[in-house]
Amino acid sequence: MYINFWYPIALSDEISNDAPLKVKLLNMNVVAFRDGKGSPIVLSDTCIHRGGSLGLGKIKDDCIECSYHGWQFDNSGNCTFIPTQANTKPPNRAKVDSYPTQEKYGIVFAFMGDLPEAERPPLYEIEEFGAEGWRTNRVFSFELKAYYERSVENGMDMAHNEFVHPNQGAPAVGETLRKHPINVEHSPPWGCGFLQPFNATGASEDTKLMGAGEGSTVAGSAHHGPNTLITRIIFSAERQFLQVFFEAPVDYGLTRIFFINMRDWMLDPEQDEKLIDINMQIAGEDVSIVESLNPVQTPDSTARELLTEADKPIVCYREYLDGWESNGWKIDRESLESQLGKAACAIPSPSRRTEKGWVLPAIPLHTGK
Ligand code: FES
Ligand SMILES: [Fe+2]
Repeated sequence: MYINFWYPIALSDEISNDAPLKVKLLNMNVVAFRDGKGSPIVLSDTCIHRGGSLGLGKIKDDCIECSYHGWQFDNSGNCTFIPTQANTKPPNRAKVDSYPTQEKYGIVFAFMGDLPEAERPPLYEIEEFGAEGWRTNRVFSFELKAYYERSVENGMDMAHNEFVHPNQGAPAVGETLRKHPINVEHSPPWGCGFLQPFNATGASEDTKLMGAGEGSTVAGSAHHGPNTLITRIIFSAERQFLQVFFEAPVDYGLTRIFFINMRDWMLDPEQDEKLIDINMQIAGEDVSIVESLNPVQTPDSTARELLTEADKPIVCYREYLDGWESNGWKIDRESLESQLGKAACAIPSPSRRTEKGWVLPAIPLHTGK
């Protein structure tokens, strides 16, 4: 898992000004709520007084009040009120990390890291979202009892379609991959992907509805950062499906996936639910496979798997991950777990670059390969 990327926190309608929402992300807890103007606020959940959970507290005006002794924190994470010393300004160290937020596609995202704005990897921009001639299904989320990188790799993997999705009209992917090795293209610095022609035949009635089974199709996937996956199925110039998965690593064995599904045909809204059903059926086939992978996390060394030509996009994804590890952005799981229950820490926010005096240390990170 990596800091310094945008992560989905919750669907827009899950975050309100009425009550805070406690969210586990990157194996840490944050609290999300809206201020009086409706802007989403995401703070580290651990109160720096004596470790209360802000997520169990109350929203008071634009602040969140800790459930334990009522200290209040504003949208910048600064403590504005300490009930037992109501006439004294809270000390400078009375602050928690506050993460930049963006609300887009019906999702609230937070930038979980300390990079200044100009250096931040961007949130993936879906050009087709809201564009004329495109229809987007309502965004929704589902959980996967698996490590998020396994899920992204599954999305970058063409060769499984024939076996995991036998009714989806891709019976000859293996043959196609023998004839046309995958050409991985790069869109540095945030990812790589491919588009691959294949012969779609033998689709079930349901997936024929989606356009499969009518000859030559182009399909492909790309990743953007560690946790965004984009897949395209192009049946023809006028018939395309576009799917974007914003993945939230909850912990090392659980992922919440925010799914946006678009199309530039079958634009009638009445088709939405049918398409959601078909997509969830396909996703269900992936879920049972990905949840059963051993080990849960992708191995650290490619020598611990036997990768082939068809796995090139996965190797490439891992090279990008290695690059971000070299930047010092990878969370050190062993060291984090060794202090679990004994010491609290927080994902560093941008203010740590400019302000001193943080009560909690930053989460342990690998120093780079
Ligand atoms: S622990 Fe939060 S106010 Fe005391
Ligand atoms: Fe799949």
